[in-house]
Amino acid sequence: MRMLQAAVRVPDHGKLVPFRFLRIQGEARHALGEALLARALELDPHASAAALEKDRARFLHAPLIVTVIARLDADHKVPEQEQLLTAGCVCFTLLQAAQALGFGAQWLTGWAAYDATIRGILGVRAEEKIAGFIHIGTARIDAPERDRPDASALLSDWRPDA
Ligand SMILES: Cc1cc2nc3c(=O)[nH]c(=O)nc-3n(C[C@H](O)[C@H](O)[C@H](O)COP(=O)(O)O)c2cc1C
Repeated sequence: MRMLQAAVRVPDHGKLVPFRFLRIQGEARHALGEALLARALELDPHASAAALEKDRARFLHAPLIVTVIARLDADHKVPEQEQLLTAGCVCFTLLQAAQALGFGAQWLTGWAAYDATIRGILGVRAEEKIAGFIHIGTARIDAPERDRPDASALLSDWRPDA
């Protein structure tokens, strides 16, 4: 709850609270894995055993997965893009809150986040989007560092035409 309370402290234009949480833990992770496997097989009856096993195990790498679901109101004067960005901020804040409390956490989506059948199984409504599955647990290894962009190379100055 502490992590979620931190995660809801995000910039939110219009105070729309354009997000909700769906917790996946315990046995539910296995049930979801079986549903993913069945759907993967339906999408590709020739899928390799390795690919199917990867899908079955997708939600078993951490004890807790918090799904951040964006609740979008396309007719609101606050643009949908801004509502989605707020949900993205929730994902990142949740990630940082989990890490600040000493857990390992990772923001993943994968095909399941965009598949109509899996969305239905998770109860995601038509006007909603899965912003991320935040996997939270105890890190077994330090995540390897990767190359980071050079911020100065991304910076330019706007100047009014003379
Ligand atoms: C919206 C979003 C979705 C992501 N989905 C995946 C994913 O499905 N699979 C994956 O390997 N990484 C995914 N990532 C990347 C990881 O969250 C993470 O950035 C990556 O593992 C590298 O970790 P680092 O950014 O701490 O170096 C996603 C990132 C974002 C922002």
